Amino acid sequence: EQIDPSELETVAVTIENRIAWVKYNRPDKRNCMSPKLNRQMTRVLADLEFREDVGVVVLTGEGAAFSAGMDLQEYFRENEQKGLWATRKAQREAYNWWERLRWYEKPTIGMINGWCFGGAYGPLYAVDIAISSDDAKFGLSEINWGILPGGGASKVAQELMPLRKAMYHAMMGENLTGKQAEAQGLVTESVPHDQLKARVVEIAEALLKKDANALRATKWAMRRMVEMTYDNAEDYLIRAQEALNGFGGLEARKEATKQFLDEKTFKPGLGTFDI
Ligand code: ACO
Repeated sequence: EQIDPSELETVAVTIENRIAWVKYNRPDKRNCMSPKLNRQMTRVLADLEFREDVGVVVLTGEGAAFSAGMDLQEYFRENEQKGLWATRKAQREAYNWWERLRWYEKPTIGMINGWCFGGAYGPLYAVDIAISSDDAKFGLSEINWGILPGGGASKVAQELMPLRKAMYHAMMGENLTGKQAEAQGLVTESVPHDQLKARVVEIAEALLKKDANALRATKWAMRRMVEMTYDNAEDYLIRAQEALNGFGGLEARKEATKQFLDEKTFKPGLGTFDI
């Protein structure tokens, strides 16, 4: 496939100490998601997913925005002019990378540095841990320009927020601050802007010290269980642990148990074992 050179400018990637920083890189357009950006994001995430020098992926935005949602010009208007097939193709390109991120092999952190609107709720939901700047603004602005919050955005609000709050959020088109987003369940935590990166690095470094296989099994279980009854979840967790045992989990647990019971070098209640 021929790569359009302009696609390579829409996402920036740097890797430092096993943390991959993936940035929406259209600050002049408030990092809104164009089809080009979505295609590049797909490639970047696919590349990082199986790299040995990457242990955690952070998704964030360059400049004042995390992402101002879908690009009203390049994603909506231009595709509508071309016809339904173009709209469907553009939807597929966006939804594909959000889905990939939801089931990513590696732990992911969203660093919500600024504006986060509409379509950006897809990736917001997809990341495992979302840390926001207190100054960020979250909005389902769709209602303000005459559409419903599609592309999964309504579902994200309904999944993460109490229904009364989600309903108000979707119907009113008012923005939430980082702190409000934290209180209503949209993000894990909100911190002052000048502490945002340090907090994300702290979490990433803690994740890098965990057993990677156990971490992957844990995050997938948390998402899968959303749709399960208690009994199905109980059974799934047995199967998932037994699968984990098949690729190093048993050895990891024996080693951790030895470090706790015999060597007394750590306590599982207070820290993580030495991998
Ligand atoms: N689609 C297309 N262009 C956009 C988008 C977008 N979603 N967001 C920003 N831009 C463009 C602006 O048109 C402008 O382009 P220009 O410089 O060529 O004129 C540039 O980005 C900068 O935007 P401003 O509005 O000038 O920036 P400001 O800092 O004043 O405001 C804000 C930022 C509040 C994010 C504003 O740009 C905005 O409301 N954007 C739309 C947010 C939105 O509702 N997104 C869609 C959600 S619904 C969905 O995703 C399905």
